[in-house]
Amino acid sequence: MYILRKKNLTDILDKWSKAFEVYTPQYEDDQVMLLPYEKSGFTTDYINFAFPVKEYFFKERERLFDWSEESGNIGISQPGNVPETKRLLFGVRACDLYGINYMDKFYLDDFRDNIYEKSRREKWIAAVNCTAYGETCFCNSMGTGPFADKGYDVLLTPLEDSYLVEAATEKGIELVELAGGLLEAADAVMLDEKQKVYDSFKDTFKISINTENIHKVYEAGFNDEIWDSLEKDCIRCTGCTNVCPTCTCFNVIDENESGSAGKRMRCWDSCQSDAFTRNAGEHNPRNSVSRVRYRIFDKFKYIEEKFGFKGCTGCGRCIGVCPVSINVVKISNYLTKKYGNGVTPGEKQMEYNHDHGQRCEDVYVPQVAVITEIVEETPKIKRFFLSYEDKSMHDNFEFRGQFFEITVFGVGEIAISIPFSASSKYEFDFCVKKAGKVTSALHELKVGDKVGLRGPFGKGFPYEEFKGKDIIVVGSGVGIAPVRTMIVQALENRSDFGKIVVIGSAMSYEDLVYKEDLIKWSSLDGVKVLYALSNPTTKVDAHVGYINDLLPDLGLNWEKTAAIICASPRRIKAVSKDLLKLGMSGKSIYTSLETHMRCGIGKCGHCKVGSKYMCIDGPVFNYEEMLELPPEF
Ligand SMILES: Cc1cc2nc3c(=O)[nH]c(=O)nc-3n(C[C@H](O)[C@H](O)[C@H](O)COP(=O)(O)OP(=O)(O)OC[C@H]3O[C@@H](n4cnc5c(N)ncnc54)[C@H](O)[C@@H]3O)c2cc1C
Ligand code: SF4
Ligand code: SF4
Ligand code: FES
Repeated sequence: MYILRKKNLTDILDKWSKAFEVYTPQYEDDQVMLLPYEKSGFTTDYINFAFPVKEYFFKERERLFDWSEESGNIGISQPGNVPETKRLLFGVRACDLYGINYMDKFYLDDFRDNIYEKSRREKWIAAVNCTAYGETCFCNSMGTGPFADKGYDVLLTPLEDSYLVEAATEKGIELVELAGGLLEAADAVMLDEKQKVYDSFKDTFKISINTENIHKVYEAGFNDEIWDSLEKDCIRCTGCTNVCPTCTCFNVIDENESGSAGKRMRCWDSCQSDAFTRNAGEHNPRNSVSRVRYRIFDKFKYIEEKFGFKGCTGCGRCIGVCPVSINVVKISNYLTKKYGNGVTPGEKQMEYNHDHGQRCEDVYVPQVAVITEIVEETPKIKRFFLSYEDKSMHDNFEFRGQFFEITVFGVGEIAISIPFSASSKYEFDFCVKKAGKVTSALHELKVGDKVGLRGPFGKGFPYEEFKGKDIIVVGSGVGIAPVRTMIVQALENRSDFGKIVVIGSAMSYEDLVYKEDLIKWSSLDGVKVLYALSNPTTKVDAHVGYINDLLPDLGLNWEKTAAIICASPRRIKAVSKDLLKLGMSGKSIYTSLETHMRCGIGKCGHCKVGSKYMCIDGPVFNYEEMLELPPEF
């Protein structure tokens, strides 16, 4: 613990500037921003920066990888393996510090984001405790401020004519050493001084949120009329998410530099834009009311449910920036007043100080794969057989997950289900329906062309749980692809299962995929294949009508049956309801859900439904779990 005289503050910044690119609070027009240190614009008279410090770790626009093609070969490189300049961020407030720690947890836990990690490692943080609050600050009620308790390298607390300086990490000790004679040793009594400053203003904030029972309160207020009225007010400017220190969503965009070279970029994206969750074919599972509700639920419920710490830092920026005065504090307090009598959610502790030194794999970079065969299944659906160019990838392939991300270089990347089994270790096949930009480009490719593969990702069907049971597998349209993996695994391990029923459904027989497989499977012992089509056919004996009509006559032991259904959410619900009536439990009915995906690894935020990321927590859910999700898929 040290003392720095206030008159020596710029001297210490000068010293640190010799070793770091130092960023400090600087006046720019009438706002205070975190900018390269210049004595002329430097100030200590600020409540907080106009923008959160997240942009120093997670840039508004950054490159994921470059690709280029030469003589049919595709080369991929990830730029930025060059170390960034060492930067010291001075003057970070407690609420933003909490935001950085949230990002550390978010980006550095599962599927460690190597781009974030690199940027984080090269930053030193000198936080400065607040001694005054702004009109929209409510960090005290979120428990994130006004004083920082963890997550900084060095912390300065303004006292009368000096700062109390506390170093918390090795980086902090380095800063102390670099300060040389400017720091004087402080004794423990200075902590009492610090406490006095804190006590003098901690309870004087103008606005606050009651976080007690907040999850229950939000749950009860899910269908409140307030969301309809907010939807009418919100002009979708996305200002609130841009300024939020805990908004981490991004879009992924392919940019072509020429026909044979390009780059994949990520840029900040906002759940407040209409296109955020829109799927191919214009279907959007989140309507505009749920769009507005989602942001606020995410901050006060979903993030905490998922990660175990609060999603709002109480910085108040979204309140200040909203042109139509949408105010998270007023909304929360309105809900608390109306519904606030639930139980208190367990107190959860945020983990700080993730190790920033460890290197990790390039999670966004695909492996090159070659198209070895293409089969036209229907006029709109093609089956692509792929092999990694680097054969060792196949040797080391571990069969798991539910989908891969397939890249068409220069166009984009899409999630496509695994329809094969573990025995297809050296060649993968995928069934792709032409739906929009990337799928159409994929349909144009020929045998020998190259694509990118990332994966496998997601949670697959719980094969072990199905053992010893009869199974019924239902696939509608291209939905037979995700369930095919279960069928082929069950057929390869026939003795593990009782009867197997497969129901293929489509508009017409011509629209069905895997027609040859279906015929082959129908001739196997103990396997029944049925068809539910909208149009009659002479090719097979098919029921003209809904899948549901076929269920009562199947003669399965329903209590010992597992069902796997992949169809539209409406059809999944209709079939599941009938299966429940027949005696099945909701825990034995499984489905693979489809939402807009970009990254596949729980980072871009596009696929999130309530507190669940479809790409890592799903896409496979049982019917009971599915019903617990907000109806936004
Ligand atoms: C887990 C999962 C498994 C899937 N499996 C298959 C499969 O086996 N076969 C198949 O044909 N389709 C499958 N899909 C749907 C497929 O991903 C979309 O049809 C595809 O992304 C549409 O991309 P596009 O560029 O052609 O359409 P556009 O409308 O141009 O979409 C632009 C971008 O939005 C995203 N997007 C749009 N629609 C969807 C969607 N439905 N799901 C996810 N992201 C979307 C993608 O990032 C896409 O590149 C699956 C989707 C998910 C989530
Ligand atoms: S939701 Fe608003 S108040 Fe909360 S952290 Fe984000 S910008 Fe700050
Ligand atoms: S800042 Fe206000 S108007 Fe803009 S998207 Fe957010 S809530 Fe809507
Ligand atoms: S978080 Fe990016 S697709 Fe799930």
